[in-house]
Amino acid sequence: MSCEKSVRILLVCLGNICRSPTAHGVLEHRLRAAGLDWVTVDSAGTAAYHQGNAPDARATAAAARRNVPLAHLRARQVVAADFETFDLILAMDAQNLADLRAQAPAGSLASVRLFMDFAKGLGTEVPDPYYGGAAGFEQVLDRVEAASDGLIGQLRSGAWQGAE
Ligand code: 4NP
Repeated sequence: MSCEKSVRILLVCLGNICRSPTAHGVLEHRLRAAGLDWVTVDSAGTAAYHQGNAPDARATAAAARRNVPLAHLRARQVVAADFETFDLILAMDAQNLADLRAQAPAGSLASVRLFMDFAKGLGTEVPDPYYGGAAGFEQVLDRVEAASDGLIGQLRSGAWQGAE
């Protein structure tokens, strides 16, 4: 293990019921499998619409087919303290990224980036599946799995701290 320091990661979408809980579940599952117990994960939404709700049933069913449980997660909105608590705040799309950057308190040290920065070649965003069909939820999982693996590689090497 190259890194003894803990790293705290927050995954962010709009509602925190589709994309970011999927990313939360998948990344946590893969971190555990990889033995990276010094990395902690949480998720949140830029909006408060679904505060306190479990993930969307379509997201939970799609993730369960890949052996990732999501039903224990509950939605919450991003708060100012998140910019102090987390080292890495990862947005699912460009709008989420812009909203996070607009909300970041002055002097915040958190690195705020797109999650898909860690999965070159699959697009820059995890598109919102909420108003679409089942294929959208599969695409979310495909992209989130790839970004999780890329991020885990960078966490192992320490490269996540230098890359922008
Ligand atoms: P998420 O998806 O941002 O991936 O959780 C959405 C969930 C809810 C809504 C939009 C997107 N909504 O408009 O309620």
